[in-house]
Amino acid sequence: MPADFFADISDQQTPPHYFYFDGSTWKPSATGATVEVISPIDGSIVGTIPMLSSQEMDTALLRATEAQVSWEATPMNKRVGIVHLAADWIRHFQDYLVALLIREVGKSKDEAKGEIARTADLIDYFADEVQSMRGMTLDSDNFPGFEKGRIAMIERVAHGTVLAIAPFNYPVNLTASKIAPALLMGNSVVVKPPTQGGISALHLVRIFEKAGVPPGVISTVTGTGEVVGEHVVSHPMVSMVAFTGNSDTGVAIAGKAAMKPLLFECGGNNPVVVMPDADMVVAAREIIKGAFAYSGQRCTGIKYVLTTPAIREQLVALVLKTMPEMVKMGDPRSPETKLVGPVISEEAAIKIEQAILASVKNGAKCVIGGKRNKAMIEPTVLTNVVPSMPIIAKETFGPVVSFVDVSSFDEAAVIINRSSYGLQASVFTKDEGSGLVFAKKLNVGSVQVNGSPQRGPDHFPFLGVKRSGVGVQGVRYSLEAMSRLRPVVLNKPQ
Ligand code: G3H
Repeated sequence: MPADFFADISDQQTPPHYFYFDGSTWKPSATGATVEVISPIDGSIVGTIPMLSSQEMDTALLRATEAQVSWEATPMNKRVGIVHLAADWIRHFQDYLVALLIREVGKSKDEAKGEIARTADLIDYFADEVQSMRGMTLDSDNFPGFEKGRIAMIERVAHGTVLAIAPFNYPVNLTASKIAPALLMGNSVVVKPPTQGGISALHLVRIFEKAGVPPGVISTVTGTGEVVGEHVVSHPMVSMVAFTGNSDTGVAIAGKAAMKPLLFECGGNNPVVVMPDADMVVAAREIIKGAFAYSGQRCTGIKYVLTTPAIREQLVALVLKTMPEMVKMGDPRSPETKLVGPVISEEAAIKIEQAILASVKNGAKCVIGGKRNKAMIEPTVLTNVVPSMPIIAKETFGPVVSFVDVSSFDEAAVIINRSSYGLQASVFTKDEGSGLVFAKKLNVGSVQVNGSPQRGPDHFPFLGVKRSGVGVQGVRYSLEAMSRLRPVVLNKPQ
């Protein structure tokens, strides 16, 4: 029963006060301070999570450091077994976790189900893939001037303690995508959940604990990003930082983390380029899905479309014609709602509204949407947008797509490459050869030809350049990033 399994992670009041996990016990913070998690759907309190003192964070980090040594020494097959069991528990509690995600972060039932199923599959894939990670040996005589006999035995070893900082938009999946590879490579993990989404992330940590992760190897540090980030990121007991979140926060964390290895996925403003020979129906549908799914709160969401004025006219007409069939704003719990519900908070919605208004004031034209009601932003299409307008110059985490006119596709490439972001881009053309040639001109993490930007399938490399990220994720790539090479060189006595 979920109630028993998760019973002692909160005081079970209404609303519940959730605890933090210090590595061995779930308990409230001695500070008594908590932060409320408010449902974006109806403003109700989902629960509270504790705000830890520096001393409590230090204790979790000390335990993590101490426990990591024996965890790394644990046979790989045992670590794999524990991680597979966590995936099984996630599937077992799917309905419970889905209901929690819907309420906590405003996902629709399908989106929440997708996140939970994908998380269990991802964890299993990590646990399978890790078994093919190999070390290697190198002999010295390949290098000029060296004789045979000096042998480097190169193993892959853990960094130590990984700090995993996850965002609100995939609080289970993007926490698991850090926990699983970190544990499998022999690290201990200290999880900093998002505030909103934090309750779902705490449930995930509970699952790993119950699956058999030993005391100290996994723990949570909860509280506001500023307070926890300030204390923990630069902490000498943190060996590596894995972060998903917005670019400004990422830049601040990278500064504080100094020489620690980083694995960051940050914001994106993901452009789409539509060539004259594209299948316009496919392009329009992909633009709608890419821009409005989960109310535009995916880091891979489409933010702007670059094309010539003639194509733009045709495409915008098609987008407007297709939107009623694909998009219906509403309560994410209602089966009638399609793609667009509330954004994460009213405060976030106000910022999106301000970006729309500022762009319109500077000459953008709002062809549909643009209005706000509490945390709801109407699905919005803007034309006459130029790259300097706030709606695309900064990442807008909401259901807004902007059309930018270009006179040539070389100009489109220049605009994309001048952006301070570089997560993904898409190009639509019936000629895959032209798509490939154009893709190679773009300085972004990945380019999709005839599809909207997206992370999955999750074993593909996923990365951002510039303000969009550091390092590469994806199953094998994350396992590599969460470990380091340790060469031991056997020198032949002279
Ligand atoms: O929000 C960031 C996620 O990594 C994007 O994943 O493309 O599957 O929505 P997604």
